[in-house]
Amino acid sequence: MAKKPRIVIIGAGMAGLTAANKLYTASNNSFDLSVVEGGSRIGGRINTSEFSSEKIEMGATWIHGIGGSPIYKIAEETGSLVSEEPWECMDSTVDKARTFAEGGFEIEPSVVEPVSVLFNALMELAQGKDIENDDGGDLGQIYEIATRFYSSVNGLNGSSVGSFLRSGFEAYWASVSKGGNGVEGCGTWSRRSLEEAIFTMFSNTQRTYTSADDLYALDYAAESEYQMFPGEEITIAKGYLSVIHHLASVLPQGVVELIRRVTKIEWESNEEDPVKLHFSDGSVVFADHVIVTVSLGVLKAGIESDGGLFSPPLPEFKSDAIKRLGYGVVNKLFVEVSQRRFPSLQLVFEKEDSEYRFVKIPWWMRRTATMAPIHSNSKVLLSWFAGKEALELEKLPDEEIIDGVLTTVSCLTGKEVKKDNGKAPKTLANGSLREDDDEEVVKITKVLTSKWGGDPLFRGSYSYVAVGSSGDDLDAMAEPLPQINKKSGQVNGHGQAKVRELQVMFAGEATHRTHYSTTHGAYYSGLREANRLLKHYKCDF
Ligand SMILES: Cc1cc2nc3c(=O)[nH]c(=O)nc-3n(C[C@H](O)[C@H](O)[C@H](O)COP(=O)(O)OP(=O)(O)OC[C@H]3O[C@@H](n4cnc5c(N)ncnc54)[C@H](O)[C@@H]3O)c2cc1C
Ligand SMILES: *[C@@H]1O[C@H](CO)[C@@H](O)[C@H](O)[C@H]1NC(C)=O
Ligand SMILES: *[C@@H]1O[C@H](CO)[C@@H](O)[C@H](O)[C@H]1NC(C)=O
Ligand SMILES: *[C@@H]1O[C@H](CO)[C@@H](O)[C@H](O)[C@H]1NC(C)=O
Ligand SMILES: *[C@@H]1O[C@H](CO)[C@@H](O)[C@H](O)[C@H]1NC(C)=O
Repeated sequence: MAKKPRIVIIGAGMAGLTAANKLYTASNNSFDLSVVEGGSRIGGRINTSEFSSEKIEMGATWIHGIGGSPIYKIAEETGSLVSEEPWECMDSTVDKARTFAEGGFEIEPSVVEPVSVLFNALMELAQGKDIENDDGGDLGQIYEIATRFYSSVNGLNGSSVGSFLRSGFEAYWASVSKGGNGVEGCGTWSRRSLEEAIFTMFSNTQRTYTSADDLYALDYAAESEYQMFPGEEITIAKGYLSVIHHLASVLPQGVVELIRRVTKIEWESNEEDPVKLHFSDGSVVFADHVIVTVSLGVLKAGIESDGGLFSPPLPEFKSDAIKRLGYGVVNKLFVEVSQRRFPSLQLVFEKEDSEYRFVKIPWWMRRTATMAPIHSNSKVLLSWFAGKEALELEKLPDEEIIDGVLTTVSCLTGKEVKKDNGKAPKTLANGSLREDDDEEVVKITKVLTSKWGGDPLFRGSYSYVAVGSSGDDLDAMAEPLPQINKKSGQVNGHGQAKVRELQVMFAGEATHRTHYSTTHGAYYSGLREANRLLKHYKCDF
């Protein structure tokens, strides 16, 4: 009997386990298959955990649209969408959020809403969606302003989402202020500074959606290529890991090897076993095919230096795509408070040059848009961080995070929030001290933060199309090596020499042109590479 083709999948995240699941179930055992994972658990950027006796997601959280989502399908079929226990469903954020501005001002929903409508209309237009305008009143007018602005800039090349949003806000302001509308401010806030700061709050949420530290670095043209599934966005009641466990459950014992970190991938040798993998413990494994599913951040680090992850180094088309595409850090902060029914907060901060800024609010809290209980009866609050702030968060001791959060909440809501020990008197928003320990005072008990930026197995959270890159780079990410010349059918640079195909293959969220950054993008990419091999070996069971 001929030797079975040996396939090694690097990484036991969504992409790697989907590929393994497909290869195993569709090949009738015709491959010698293994999955090597550098960490001590499966799931990768899916990391369901526990905090304050509640199930939480440290990584992937949402199914982004249930209509047609393969993740939704698995979660539904495995009964993972229902649970007796409460979960991170964020049911109190919808429509019930209260908005506070620096200085202790609560902002009326009627002030927030037009800005929210404007922001969402601009984002939807940028994403190439048709926006609905069924409001005949002021909000309908905002849709019109946004649509008119969009038409005036359409075809903009080399531009960023940040500059699009900025100009969109200016166009809006020019229209409404001309109409004599909205001159009333609030406390130290003028109407313009307030609306602008609310707009910035929504931009900060967008930073966490995309992982771009700066929306001026997020490519505008690519925004319309990104696809969303229709329908509700939901979280998974039994935890995101239940989907991972389902995919892994078909694999026989021993196929997935944990704590097996690959340090070098030697490829393109013309021999019997074209790929040689080196591991951190010094061991080596030969393979006919490897599917690399490590994150874009790990790839970026892997090509930075000579003696990098690949030997020979990756061809230029591949390394250029890796360099050009964006990959950012997003972290989640969980805060346990002493009180249930804590409101969902939207946080509006003064601009950098404002004289009304509270110096005590740390810089790394200033681009946090929301803080909300993970379900309506939970003591656990959640905030999302992106970019520099997210990276800083990972480095801070818990004590400092607690201080930063309570100062921020105190300064914005005008209510006192304390550390649990209750010893240190805290400053009220108006600068006076308060020492009594009444029941009204909300205390922060403990915090937990994800740490995706500093972890060498991830080096960040997810990818985005940076200004200077494009969807073509995402396609380049997916190309297997060695590259076959489409015209001649020959391997580039090898003339007529016989070179083994599909030595190094790539899957993972950053290899999907329209669903990058998501779990379902990772899923599709794993299927794609499994199918490439199945087709190559004419396996069709
Ligand atoms: C905070 C956060 C929130 C998110 N929220 C959402 C969300 O709400 N919805 C959504 O759809 N997506 C979300 N995502 C994105 C989603 O988690 C990822 O897109 C997806 O899980 C990526 O899967 P992957 O298989 O491509 O990569 P990974 O999950 O990164 O898998 C790669 C695996 O390779 C391993 N590895 C790395 N280097 C080596 C090595 N040298 N040797 C061996 N193994 C190695 C890693 O340990 C990892 O397990 C979020 C991500 C984060 C971090
Ligand atoms: C799967 O492989 C087994 C043994 O190699 C063989 O007997 C069987 O017919 C195969 N099944 C299919 C569907 O080809
Ligand atoms: C934008 O760039 C694309 C491809 O680079 C080009 O085909 C198109 O004509 C450009 N559009 C404008 C308005 O410059
Ligand atoms: C600050 O606010 C507290 C509580 O609202 C109030 O009791 C106190 O008098 C205020 N101090 C000053 C200096 O205004
Ligand atoms: C994954 O969750 C565990 C807690 O269950 C935590 O210790 C670890 O830091 C998390 N990983 C990342 C990268 O945040």
